[in-house]
Amino acid sequence: MTDDELLDAARAVRGKAHCPYSGFHVGAAILDENGEVHVGCNVENAAYSNVSCAEAGAISAMVAAGGTRIVTIAVAGGDEHKTRACTPCGGCRQRIHEFSNKQTRIIVKDDDEDWHTYSIDDLLPASFHL
Ligand code: THU
Repeated sequence: MTDDELLDAARAVRGKAHCPYSGFHVGAAILDENGEVHVGCNVENAAYSNVSCAEAGAISAMVAAGGTRIVTIAVAGGDEHKTRACTPCGGCRQRIHEFSNKQTRIIVKDDDEDWHTYSIDDLLPASFHL
């Protein structure tokens, strides 16, 4: 599974997002330590605070399938016209952190081939641990 294939999986599931309130579609695809891919999209609700982010859906799918570690997570977000290099929100950074190690890569890419790779320490320095 290449980074491009994982980004394609994120872009594909982004098309399934349920986001009638924001109009902002997000897809996430995780490659886990077993070489399995798990995807998720954002699911909004008329009671706005009940939104489920794409990353949360992909993490739930990974855990349900027996995965324990994110090797790479690709995120693609945007409206129906354009994909933006969408970095995970604050809450999703903490969710990703739970299943990450120093090698975990978070990759985002937009329609113009602008490409970024981050570690979880880049996105969530001085993170919370129990
Ligand atoms: N969203 C995600 O799915 N992931 C993020 O990391 C940022 C935000 C969704 C939530 C909501 O449905 C829409 O994007 C606009 O905030």
